[in-house]
Amino acid sequence: MPKPPFCEIISELKRLAESATDFSSLQKFAVDVIAQNLPYYDWVGFYMLDPDDSSVLVLGPYHGAPTDHLRIPVTKGICGAAVATGETVVIDDVTTDPRYLACSLETRSEIVVPIRVNQKIAGEIDIDSHTVSAFGPDDRRFLEECATLFGRFIQETRDKLSPQADDNGLTI
Ligand code: SME
Repeated sequence: MPKPPFCEIISELKRLAESATDFSSLQKFAVDVIAQNLPYYDWVGFYMLDPDDSSVLVLGPYHGAPTDHLRIPVTKGICGAAVATGETVVIDDVTTDPRYLACSLETRSEIVVPIRVNQKIAGEIDIDSHTVSAFGPDDRRFLEECATLFGRFIQETRDKLSPQADDNGLTI
């Protein structure tokens, strides 16, 4: 179980997930509640795979400074690395990682956590901090629990819209 304030944020997200009718409103609430409760989370945002081109991540709702990286090929950046490896990527010092795509000059560390729907990656949550080595094991556990909650929400929303379809949209 995550420690405070992580457990309170998870409870808030679960509460909203029960009433939200679409993923976009859950995403908007999530980036605000996460960034406002964790001051060292300086940029919090979603990148989701483009439904028409799964080789590209598309910027979704975010909290923090605007970024030029609206679309990121899955072969690029720390964001692409999380899709390519299928694992959470933690970068303690972004200045030492040649894959890093700069969003803000102030960013010092980053964590990217894949979101899975039916075992397949659908997108990710990306956090930047102005502090070196900001993200420890508790942050990782917290964000992985958030990612599981988001993946489950997407799946349940799809099931409600199309209960007869499997993960590929085929009628079963
Ligand atoms: N730093 C990311 C790009 C996205 S910004 O952080 C918002 C990367 O290297 O993929």
